[in-house]
Amino acid sequence: MRHLIRTDDFSIEEINELFQDAERFSDGRFERILQDKIIITLFFENSTRTKSSFEIAAKRLGAEVIHLDVTKSSTKKGETLTDTAANLEAMGPNAIIIRHQNAGVPKILSQHANAAIINAGDGAHAHPTQALLDLFTMHQHFDNLKDKRIAIVGDIKNSRVANSNIELLTRYGLDVTLVAPPQFMPKTTLKTTDSLTSIIDKVDIIMSLRTQTERHSYPIYASLKDYASDFCITKELLGDRDILIMHPGPVHRNVDIDDALLDDPRSKVLNQVKNGVLIRMAVLKKLIGNV
Ligand code: NCD
Repeated sequence: MRHLIRTDDFSIEEINELFQDAERFSDGRFERILQDKIIITLFFENSTRTKSSFEIAAKRLGAEVIHLDVTKSSTKKGETLTDTAANLEAMGPNAIIIRHQNAGVPKILSQHANAAIINAGDGAHAHPTQALLDLFTMHQHFDNLKDKRIAIVGDIKNSRVANSNIELLTRYGLDVTLVAPPQFMPKTTLKTTDSLTSIIDKVDIIMSLRTQTERHSYPIYASLKDYASDFCITKELLGDRDILIMHPGPVHRNVDIDDALLDDPRSKVLNQVKNGVLIRMAVLKKLIGNV
């Protein structure tokens, strides 16, 4: 059984195939190929986009989706996570989609599972379907992604979206620069800066990220307003430059990206959400479509 825990679980050839499927799906060319399949969603952390996107993807392909409300599940009665998972497994689902605040949980479950385990975000570690949909969104705009220049801006150190994107984008040959204050900068061999203005003439894409306040053990910035004055992507900063603006959501308006730019055609934030369904359909087809 194949699982999707990290972006590097798939080769470039496999990802290119996912993109071809996603393109077909976007033209409405798909059948209910998951009609006999049962998929469980298990979200231990909040989610708006990812959970509903997976559920819509699964339903479009005809699967049954069962959402386990973890606030009412037996993990709240002291059952271990592995026991909860083993019990769910015993019911024979084809896939379990899991989000957890602790890095490594989906990987551990995958070591015991007969169902395909799909990581919908684990701590600050990985969020593979987000990175795949981000890359797919870029692929729709550029004939050739190699050497396209992208700045990833924000709380990179605590972001699973950044981690997964860094692996995937560098593998596809994009030129990645990390833009963050020192406290949000991970250890890296990539180019880094804390100055947005220094990179604005040298990028094709900007990916803004939310400050992950829930993962900080103490308030890192005096206020989000202070952070925004240095790192908010504004219409003024962009001028008339032809740069794609991306964000995985949820956006802190006027902190990550300003209102005016969110309404600008250069902002691809809602295209990313739309593509999320297509990419998750392709991932489900790949993992459980033929088993
Ligand atoms: C992200 C997440 O949960 O990792 N959101 C998402 O899945 N679209 C990013 C975030 O919470 O900042």
